[in-house]
Amino acid sequence: MESFYELAKNRYSCRFYSEKAVEPEVLAQILETGRIAPTATNSQPVRVFVLKSEGSLAKIREATRMVYNAPVVLMVCYDISKSYKAEKYNDPHDCGLDDACIVATHMMLQAKDLGLETVWARGFNAMDIEKAFEFPPELKLACLMDLGYADPEHGKPTPRHFQRNPVEDFAKEI
Ligand SMILES: Cc1cc2nc3c(=O)[nH]c(=O)nc-3n(C[C@H](O)[C@H](O)[C@H](O)COP(=O)(O)O)c2cc1C
Repeated sequence: MESFYELAKNRYSCRFYSEKAVEPEVLAQILETGRIAPTATNSQPVRVFVLKSEGSLAKIREATRMVYNAPVVLMVCYDISKSYKAEKYNDPHDCGLDDACIVATHMMLQAKDLGLETVWARGFNAMDIEKAFEFPPELKLACLMDLGYADPEHGKPTPRHFQRNPVEDFAKEI
């Protein structure tokens, strides 16, 4: 069995997917692993929208170029009326985005563990997408995540996947 480290190391951003559909039970497990993620004060402000109908996929592809050809796109959002703010410490930080990113990371690694690939996308103006999908004002988009099986020929890691700073630059004792 692959160790957690190997799983994390083998995960890569996939930008070419096969036509194979994501099985309902596989999708359900990925969402379940997102559901159990921790959130600040257990506020659970994260909402995940599953885009897999022709209409929803067409809509998201029209709104941004940063989704590829996966059969499923997860739209990971958070509700700022529910998220924890550090206001009592005089800090305006909203933990909703932190929470959404933890949920997305859980789902990304769970997908890899089940043999699927993903790519996290945030290279867009979130307001355009919130408008296209008629989000209520309290709902914010954290990221999009293509989800599917890799195209065997083209769905490979890019050179960037193998480029990481050395541990001395990444972490140090202070
Ligand atoms: C917060 C975040 C935003 C990203 N946005 C995009 C994006 O908009 N489009 C894209 O193709 N990849 C995007 N990526 C993927 C990164 O480019 C990729 O993770 C990085 O180059 C390392 O490659 P690897 O994931 O294959 O290891 C994003 C990743 C993260 C974590």
